[in-house]
Amino acid sequence: MAVKMVLNADSSKGKINKNIYGHFSEHLGRCIYGGFWVGKDSPIPNTDGVRNDVIEALRKIKIPVLRWPGGCFADDYHWRDGIGPYESRPKTVNAHWGGVVEDNSFGTHEFMNLCELLDTDPYICGNVGSGTVQEMREWIEYITFEGPSTLTELRKENGREKPWKLPYFGVGNENWGCGGMMRPEYYADEYRRYATYVRSFSGNKIYKIACGASDFNYRWTEVLMREAGRFMDGLSLHYYTVARDWKNKGSAIDFDERDWFMTMKKTLMMDELVTRHSTIMDQYDPDKRVGLIVDEWGTWHDPEPGTHPRFLYQQNTLRDALVAGINLNIFNNHCDRVQMANIAQTINVLQAVILTEGEKMILTPTYHVFDMYKVHQNAQQLSVEFESSQYSFQDDSVPQINVSSSKDDEDRIHISLCNLDPNSGAHINCELRGTVRSSVSGVILTADEMNVHNTFEEPERIKPSEFNGASIANNVLDIQLPPKSVVVLTLE
Ligand code: AHR
Repeated sequence: MAVKMVLNADSSKGKINKNIYGHFSEHLGRCIYGGFWVGKDSPIPNTDGVRNDVIEALRKIKIPVLRWPGGCFADDYHWRDGIGPYESRPKTVNAHWGGVVEDNSFGTHEFMNLCELLDTDPYICGNVGSGTVQEMREWIEYITFEGPSTLTELRKENGREKPWKLPYFGVGNENWGCGGMMRPEYYADEYRRYATYVRSFSGNKIYKIACGASDFNYRWTEVLMREAGRFMDGLSLHYYTVARDWKNKGSAIDFDERDWFMTMKKTLMMDELVTRHSTIMDQYDPDKRVGLIVDEWGTWHDPEPGTHPRFLYQQNTLRDALVAGINLNIFNNHCDRVQMANIAQTINVLQAVILTEGEKMILTPTYHVFDMYKVHQNAQQLSVEFESSQYSFQDDSVPQINVSSSKDDEDRIHISLCNLDPNSGAHINCELRGTVRSSVSGVILTADEMNVHNTFEEPERIKPSEFNGASIANNVLDIQLPPKSVVVLTLE
């Protein structure tokens, strides 16, 4: 029996903010060092210290915004350590991520230059946990002020004449945990104090993001919105997909169908989280002025055997691609509230889109999903109604199909579909309302096994290919969606 679907081309929740396709890069393991940054003297081809292969790959998927320097690292980071001649930068300890020595060779200038190379907007997360209001305020002046202040002169001495634009600033990270173990009432007051000094210098308007909840901590959202909602532009939310539990998360590549099923089920919880946190926000902000900023999301598996356990290096399979496709569909469908999302993390850490090993680089299945889905960036979200068939495993089940759709500036309609079931295909009949379409083309990401992944020896085991399983007749779209697949269709 075909699943009946209706795409309403004249019904929309609004524009899908391109920042939903954002990224997160922390001083953690090999994300910055060895991932983005190899230094100007490296034999690995680079532009001002940033790997050329990485620049090219990330420009292709049009990453709109990049969050830095953490994560937990942010509330232990002091920006003055990362400016000036390399030889005189202090060596500090990355206490949260393995106690390794941080030589601070990648700092403010290197990050802002990286963003220019990637043509992406910077989103800096400030230090509330162990920093000061003055330190935060001066960092922003150093980056954005044009006039002849002492900090401007220092920036110029360090090689940057003109100020940068800094559109997004986070006032602390996970301040309920690694960012200071604060209670929401306390953090709300701290947020108000710090945010007062996050100034817009020289016409640089800053979108201020308050530290939000993790997972199901609805009380945090409630208190923050009540006490500080009117002083913020965005409120964050962190949620990771963990197949089993935090003590035994499960392997990234050696998993069975139970792990697959639980991964799908837990990823779908993002919908409930966004809905319920948004509902609380609605009470204080019915006009949806404050954005929900999901600035950490993705899979968290056990680290790859043989790697440093605090470096959070994990492989990435077709299962991770499904997780990416589902989450991005959920964010698209909540585009009236979700204004940004940042996958954790871009390179070599958690659900990475890129893995590197020396001079080698590979693209993960998750990368390919970002590439396929980039068509949704800044497009008009369209509503899709359907009652999904179920993917059943033992005595449990989840909806088999997960979808979002949008219309771009050239009037092309895109539909992204995930089939969560690793065993059964899905037949979909989609009626097109409010539009007339005659042609459909598509791209698919799938593989024979659930755990197929790319390796440095076989970098193209899984990559997108042309999809021929969809046709249109009498304005009805017929789709044969293969098991365990991510498909993006274009309707013209
Ligand atoms: O992304 C890894 C860590 O997860 C971040 O540093 C922290 O914010 C979260 O707990």
